Amino acid sequence: MADAGKVRRVPLGATGIEIPELGVGVWQWGDASFWGYGREYGAAEIRAAFDVCMARGLDFFDTAEVYGTGASERNLGAFLRDDGRPAIVASKFFPYPWRVRSPSILAAARASLQRLGLEKIDLYQIHWPYPPRSVETWMEGLAAAVGQGMIRAAGVSNYGPAQTRRAHTALARRGLPLASNQVRFSLLDRKPERSGLLEVCRELKVTVIAYSPLAQGLLTGKYTRLHPMRGLRSARLGAPSYSQLDRLVDLLREIGSGHEGRTPAQVALNWVLCKGAVPIPGAKTAQQAEENAGAVGWRLTPDEVGALDRATA
Ligand SMILES: NC(=O)c1ccc[n+]([C@@H]2O[C@H](COP(=O)([O-])OP(=O)(O)OC[C@H]3O[C@@H](n4cnc5c(N)ncnc54)[C@H](OP(=O)(O)O)[C@@H]3O)[C@@H](O)[C@H]2O)c1
Repeated sequence: MADAGKVRRVPLGATGIEIPELGVGVWQWGDASFWGYGREYGAAEIRAAFDVCMARGLDFFDTAEVYGTGASERNLGAFLRDDGRPAIVASKFFPYPWRVRSPSILAAARASLQRLGLEKIDLYQIHWPYPPRSVETWMEGLAAAVGQGMIRAAGVSNYGPAQTRRAHTALARRGLPLASNQVRFSLLDRKPERSGLLEVCRELKVTVIAYSPLAQGLLTGKYTRLHPMRGLRSARLGAPSYSQLDRLVDLLREIGSGHEGRTPAQVALNWVLCKGAVPIPGAKTAQQAEENAGAVGWRLTPDEVGALDRATA
């Protein structure tokens, strides 16, 4: 479906770094408790998924120190070393309550670098804007990490419009751009549109990275009233109305049929692309990675985007 030559590269904020228009989330690559790594799938499957991503030109990977308590970073690092080709790696700092001062960012970044086996993290993000520390405290830490050459660019995650402005201002005072804000964004969660976050990010040249762009699998069409999503994941997402979901998946399928038989997942990811965000779907297997790679190299028409907007308003 997608070939490497067709993957458009887009700027990562105003950093000068370019990333593919579709990234890869790798929380799945080592997390047992939420995703079932080591039980439902394992090392061979995620390595095959990685190989597909690299072959398709999808070389932007998003991990975090908390994913699989470091296992995701370790697995990604091992794959990259073994592969040898360059890639763009994003990781995240978790603002645990016991991390009270900005230098804790330097210690955490050092530990992530060790697990990844890299000299520099391309994009380092504050995972959540949790209090009690201010937005400015963590931006000071990110700026110090850039200054020490540990990270190339500073980003945030789960920040609202006002917090994004504050982060942008705090970094600008230190001569640095805010590269990105990573938020939950899909056809089933359109809060970033409603809250004005997309507008703010466009104005400030901050890339919106869309996590859970497949609503953790719901938008693939494989979870239905007869085969509902189970376990921790379904509790976290709340109980979806499967009759509404089934109607939406039917529409995704109908729209996909007009684009050489694209699947619901591919159409759902393309909708995120059309909104100007960079989706980072997670994939457990080569097959999932291959399907997700088929979300690029083509575009929904404005009418189709409008139909999906109305169906999920
Ligand atoms: N910043 C944050 O706070 C935050 C929060 C969450 C996630 N993230 C990041 O965003 C990434 C993606 O989000 P996510 O993992 O929450 O959700 P997602 O990408 O919407 O869904 C991923 C899951 O959907 C299923 N799937 C993926 N592709 C598929 C396909 N083609 N066909 C069928 N099933 C498919 C797989 O699970 P099953 O096979 O088990 O159904 C996969 O684990 C994560 O890996 C992580 O890097 C960040």
